[in-house]
Amino acid sequence: MSATKFSSSGFQVSENVAAMKVSSTLTAMQTAEAMRAAGVDVVDLGAGEPDFDTPQNIKDAALAAMQAGKTKYTPTAGTRELQKSIIEMYRRDFSAIYERNQVMATSGGKQAIFNAVVSLINPGDEVLIPKPYWVSFPEMVAFARGRSSFIETEENGFVLTAKMVRRSITPKTKLIILNSPSNPSGRVIPPAEFKEIMEVLAEKEIYAVSDECYLRFVYPPATVFSAASLRPELRKRLCIAGSFSKTYAMTGWRVGYALANADWTKAMLKVQGHSTSNATSISQAAAVEALNGSQESVASMLAEYAQRREWLLKALNEIPGLRCDRPEGAFYAFPDVRGCLKGNVRTSAQFANELLDKEQTVVTDGGGFGADGFIRISYATSLDRLQEGVKRIKRVVERM
Ligand SMILES: Cc1ncc(COP(=O)(O)O)c(C=O)c1O
Repeated sequence: MSATKFSSSGFQVSENVAAMKVSSTLTAMQTAEAMRAAGVDVVDLGAGEPDFDTPQNIKDAALAAMQAGKTKYTPTAGTRELQKSIIEMYRRDFSAIYERNQVMATSGGKQAIFNAVVSLINPGDEVLIPKPYWVSFPEMVAFARGRSSFIETEENGFVLTAKMVRRSITPKTKLIILNSPSNPSGRVIPPAEFKEIMEVLAEKEIYAVSDECYLRFVYPPATVFSAASLRPELRKRLCIAGSFSKTYAMTGWRVGYALANADWTKAMLKVQGHSTSNATSISQAAAVEALNGSQESVASMLAEYAQRREWLLKALNEIPGLRCDRPEGAFYAFPDVRGCLKGNVRTSAQFANELLDKEQTVVTDGGGFGADGFIRISYATSLDRLQEGVKRIKRVVERM
């Protein structure tokens, strides 16, 4: 049956969009925003963005770009300066050699993933997506009329292994979307395991998108790892999606990038050329400074996240019935709340609603990420608010 819907205005939404879910993470953000606007003392643990302001040197670079008249279209692949800066960063930090025809700037990491999926997937192609997944992955696959095939990872604490990948591959598998550090679990695939995963994919000639939006957000003993650092034979069918949003607290600037082989990049440029054209010229200038300027602000933001993480993990695990594994990266905790469910509150979605209704606290239900029974708590918020939020969660659990 067609998913096409008629509204009272007679507007006929396309099948593609009718089938699409509204982003649960953006909904959580908007709920918090509406409550704040209504004067409610909301604790927002739903945010998928840094609570820090963009570092001043980056803002200054944007101002200087505007003053210098860098306010026009840029090449679809981005300015030469930004392409060169990205290439240089990968050479310096990951010993990876990329050429200019293998790199493009995008309007956020999200567009890099979208370009990659839409330019590769044909109707009916299977795309492997490990659970829990970032909400937009299956929607992008559906948009390209591909078929998402989800990999269960709970048996290993939500960390994907090469064995899981191997047993999920079918003759129709074309692509896998990897995301480490993960949103929502915060878990990190250890580099040796990541390499084994890429070996399986190379053997089976399957493409991979590595969403490295949280690349820099890892906490010792975990270390920063990019799939770009693997040997070139393992990277032949790899597209890296990168972002400035989280590392440099630049979510509103909408700038990211894709790194892939020249043919894939050319196809992605076609998609972008007919959709957004280019990332904002001013944001691209800011991104050049982000990469080439001082990295001190990144280090101090990370130190702050690390401190919050320590406090949060301990506090969450003290709540009766709640269990939270140690996330090695990103800025999310992903506790299992099944042990807290009682009475009318039988699902994690109801648990999240209860928190919102009774304690004006926003968290994101795990169901939207393919993991019912879990909630995502963002610690991209001040320690004060985090402490208040955990107090409220505790109250709700005790009252249930
Ligand atoms: C896993 C993941 N990938 C990609 C993105 C996209 O980020 P942006 O488009 O702001 O670069 C996000 C943002 O929340 C994310 O969490």
